[in-house]
Amino acid sequence: MHNVMNDDLVLVMDHPLITHKLTQIRKQETGTNEFRKIVNEIAGLMVYEITRDLELEEIEIDTPVEKTKAGQLAGEKLVVCPILRAGLGMVDGILQLMPSARIGHIGLYRDEETLQPVEYFAKFPSKLDERLVIVVDPMLATGGSAIAAIDLVKKRGVKNIKFVCLVAAPEGVRALRKAHSDVPIITAGLDEKLNDKGYIVPGLGDAGDRIFGTK
Ligand code: PRP
Ligand code: URA
Repeated sequence: MHNVMNDDLVLVMDHPLITHKLTQIRKQETGTNEFRKIVNEIAGLMVYEITRDLELEEIEIDTPVEKTKAGQLAGEKLVVCPILRAGLGMVDGILQLMPSARIGHIGLYRDEETLQPVEYFAKFPSKLDERLVIVVDPMLATGGSAIAAIDLVKKRGVKNIKFVCLVAAPEGVRALRKAHSDVPIITAGLDEKLNDKGYIVPGLGDAGDRIFGTK
C-alpha cells in the first residue's frame, strides 16, 4: 500500500495480488463471469485495509487450556453501501469476510450527457448514525456519484464513512477529497486521467455493464 497523492486519507492498495487481479479485469477479453468473480475477489482482499482501525473490546473466554482475556469487535455492525448498480459487484466479496455486515443501497446513475449523478433509490439499515458506513463502487471517475452518495449518508447523521473503489481517476480523488475531506478513499488502483467522455483511462470500461453483461 502506498500514498502517491501525498495525502494520508488516500490509500492505493498496490499489493501484488490486487494488482494482478486488477490487470485481469482491465483486459478487454475478460468475460462477464470472470470479471464478476474477480471484482468480488479484489473487494475481499481490500477488507483488511478497510477494517484496519475497527474498535475491539476485551472479553473473558475459556480456551480448552485456561481462562483468558481476548479481543472481539465492538459496537454496532458496520454497513456496506454499494452505489447501484456496479457497487453491488463488490458486496459478496466483502461479506465473505464480514458476514454480519448490514447492507444499505444507494441508487445513482451518471447522466451520459452531463455526467451528473441522478438519484433513484436509497434504503439504509437502522441506527445508521452509530455505524461505520463503507460506500463501495468500482469506479471513481469525476467523483460526482461518490460525492452524492456520501451526501446522502451524511444527511442521515453518519460521522464515520469510508469510500472504497477499484479504479480511481486523479480528478475524482481530488473532487471527493475537496467535497468530503473527512472521508478516507481506499482504491485498488489510481489511473492516469479521464477522457472526454468521462471514462477512466486506461480504466476497465463500464464496470456496471461488464459486471451485469449489459450492452
Ligand atoms: C458508474 C460507476 C460509478 C460512476 C462513476 O456508474 O459505477 O457509479 O459511474 O462516475 P463518476 O465518478 O463520474 O460519477 P453508472 O452511472 O455508469 O451506473 P451503473 O453502475 O448503473 O452502470
Ligand atoms: N463509470 C465506469 O463504469 N467506468 C468509467 O471509466 C467511468 C465511469
